Amino acid sequence: MHIENKIRKDQIGKISSQIYTLIREEKRLTSRLRRDIRKLLENGFFFLAFDNGHLIGFIARENIYKNYYELKSWLVVPGLRNKGVGTSLLKKATSEKDFKYLIMTFYDDVIGISKRQGFRITSFLKLSLPLTIKILLTRNPKSVIKHVFKKKSTTLTKW
Ligand SMILES: CC(C)(COP(=O)(O)OP(=O)(O)OC[C@H]1O[C@@H](n2cnc3c(N)ncnc32)[C@H](O)[C@@H]1OP(=O)(O)O)[C@@H](O)C(=O)NCCC(=O)NCCS
Repeated sequence: MHIENKIRKDQIGKISSQIYTLIREEKRLTSRLRRDIRKLLENGFFFLAFDNGHLIGFIARENIYKNYYELKSWLVVPGLRNKGVGTSLLKKATSEKDFKYLIMTFYDDVIGISKRQGFRITSFLKLSLPLTIKILLTRNPKSVIKHVFKKKSTTLTKW
């Protein structure tokens, strides 16, 4: 297994379709537009795990504001979970020492893995106002409603 965030131009169409489909099939993840996935891929914001040339997982590291980054669209294909691939992706995507990282999740297993990688639970309300505003602006309205009003998500930070 190896992880990359730069892929060949001629691979972008195929990989973005695969990511799009895998996200749509995963109930836990918010669907994303194909063109947004493509843009993130082109800019090297997706970390991709490959095994024998096959895409087996990914995580997106999106810049929210200054040096704050949010980890989103984190997925390992169902048959290959619990083998360390998700942890390796998170490790790689949070390896820049000068960046500040944030995860928002509804799931205890995600909290567990993230904590083992140095994340700490915090309150969304403790984040600075500019950061809070930017987080809300980068999400689609459906996701804001889900996180803020429907269920209570857990915010984890590493900084
Ligand atoms: C969250 C997700 C990306 C994690 O990927 P993963 O590859 O299963 O993660 P890991 O294998 O690194 O870790 C999962 C567990 O396996 C354990 N593990 C890690 N390496 C292992 C190994 N070599 N052998 C056995 N178990 C291992 C981890 O300790 C962890 O244990 P825990 O559940 O008690 O915390 C994956 O479960 C997924 O795609 N879920 C659906 C989408 C989702 O929930 N995304 C996040 C939304 S916020």
